Amino acid sequence: MSEHEWQAPGPDDKRSACPALNTLANHGYLPRDGDNITSQQLIKALQDAYNLSGILATVSTYNGVVTNGLLFKKTFNLEELSKHNALEHDASLSRKDKYFGNPLKVDNELVDKLLDQQVDGKINLDSLAKQRQMQLNHSKEHNPELTYGFVQKVLSGAEGAMLVNVMGGNTNFEVDVAMLETFLKHERLPHTWRKPEKPVSPLEVFNNSNALMKKYDELEKEQHK
Ligand code: HEM
Repeated sequence: MSEHEWQAPGPDDKRSACPALNTLANHGYLPRDGDNITSQQLIKALQDAYNLSGILATVSTYNGVVTNGLLFKKTFNLEELSKHNALEHDASLSRKDKYFGNPLKVDNELVDKLLDQQVDGKINLDSLAKQRQMQLNHSKEHNPELTYGFVQKVLSGAEGAMLVNVMGGNTNFEVDVAMLETFLKHERLPHTWRKPEKPVSPLEVFNNSNALMKKYDELEKEQHK
């Protein structure tokens, strides 16, 4: 097997609630068992695989490490980056709320619903905002333990922005449906995908995140008309 060939995780391997981090382990940019990871290793993996800028890779890593209470540990595993209501939250795009099931595992039915939001074969910010609205409505109705406030809204915005910046970095922030299916369902880098040509900067992610949050608000307003 070549160094970065995709391989599915084994039953004892650790994985997170983040499709992008799991993909790094499945391709050997992180230890394939998802364990004994250092912050430096994660920063390098984010740069090598996704071309995040040094500063974005560093900030994202320490955000994960600090919010999950891992700053004083030498190493951590992927599961530890997904403590419920630290970064991991309810009303996700591709994961069940913790109340309903294991958020570390992708839910293919939810991915199909997201892919149904395509516009001409592409998933864009509008598609992501619609899926998030549907998920939030569902959670509000059925999850008595739902936690979803401003912090979770910001996190949803940032995750969506990361997705379009990384997976759609070379295509004007749109992600081909087939590519997204491979990435989310198999946590695999699609064969036809190339990492962004220019390093992904915090400002670009911030801009898309803001645009996405505006779309969330518009959909909320429409719903309450
Ligand atoms: C150190 C860097 C990162 C950390 C610590 C991290 C952590 C997380 C965590 C804990 C979640 C779960 C949130 C939830 O409950 O939905 C998540 C979701 C997500 N992450 Fe990451 N992530 C990182 C980098 C990235 C990158 C580079 C991408 C780019 C593709 C990305 C894309 C996503 C997406 C799209 C979701 C939403 C999944 C969903 O809603 O179903 N993340 N991330």
